[in-house]
Amino acid sequence: MSKISLIGAGNIGGELASLIASKSLGDVVLVDVVDGLAKGKALDLGQSGAVRNFIYSISGGSSLSKIKNSDVIVVTAGISRKPGMSRDDLISTNLEIMKNIGQAIKIYSPNSFIVCVTNPLDAMAWVLKKISGIKKNMIVGMAGILDSARFKFFLSKALNVSQEDIQTMVLGGHGDTMVPLLNYTKISGIPILEYLKQNNVKRKIVDDIIERTRNGGGEVVSLLKTGSAFYAPAISACEIVESFLRNKKKLVPCSTYLTGEYGVKNLFVGVPVVIGNKGIEKVVKVEFSTEEKNQFKKSVKSVDILTNLCQKLLIKSNF
Ligand code: NAI
Ligand code: 2OP
Repeated sequence: MSKISLIGAGNIGGELASLIASKSLGDVVLVDVVDGLAKGKALDLGQSGAVRNFIYSISGGSSLSKIKNSDVIVVTAGISRKPGMSRDDLISTNLEIMKNIGQAIKIYSPNSFIVCVTNPLDAMAWVLKKISGIKKNMIVGMAGILDSARFKFFLSKALNVSQEDIQTMVLGGHGDTMVPLLNYTKISGIPILEYLKQNNVKRKIVDDIIERTRNGGGEVVSLLKTGSAFYAPAISACEIVESFLRNKKKLVPCSTYLTGEYGVKNLFVGVPVVIGNKGIEKVVKVEFSTEEKNQFKKSVKSVDILTNLCQKLLIKSNF
């Protein structure tokens, strides 16, 4: 029986627990620093299981020791950027949280598969790996599945075709420099640029959608005002957990620790990977157009800046 620990029982953690239970992926353990939050959500979700007929248990608590011997750990603990808060403020707060969690993973569950969700995503995944000592194939950051889902959703609405029939990939860092790959975007096998030409759809429509995708998280924040997106992020994280536990070998874009692939070293950046029961089983190479290559480089640069800042903060605190 698999054990899935969710560190952070906020909006994403709670929704993810519900999804994992519905899909019967294993026992869920929710952990949150706020006293009673994880236990309360676990109790509520457990009771929903009397109607939904869950077969696995959901429990909660505030001690990180509860993650002991997990098969999978999903980290959503942290804060989101609030009005008036700089990106650096967000980094320093969430970096401290990742330090605590990374140490707990090292002590209690060093062989788990880790999915990082906390922002700024690529930098926080880097910190978690650094502190926990988890092997590079056993830790990913969730972002590309979410960003690709948003791109698909907007395309589907604009072109009036089923989301199911759209294949696409958004790579790079999780931020406004992310790179939607038009050359790998197809509608039931028809390359999108060909589809636009044949069906007299203006390219500007797709360019606007790319911009909207890049600001996809911000658009939801500005509507919700008190938090950020959680339904789409939770199902995207669940996709990774399921592919690992059920050895589905899904080929999905994930933030991955690169050691030379795509010309990137020692950074987490979104690239296509195969997720199976050995974690990241393959980093898949794709050819970029010149424009995509430049966009990817720019995106890597922005991840590099944030990761460097984390590295400096860690050195300052003797890590
Ligand atoms: P939330 O605020 O609802 O939940 C975060 C939870 O973490 C809170 O309940 C808080 O008490 C808990 N927490 C804080 N420090 C902790 C610690 N040391 N140990 C255990 N729990 C701790 O936030 P939400 O909406 O669930 O988002 C979580 C994170 O995910 C944020 O950083 C957000 O920016 C990020 N995010 C990332 C996305 C992605 O694509 N990678 C998409 C959406 C959000
Ligand atoms: C999102 O993309 C804010 O990263 C968060 O929804």
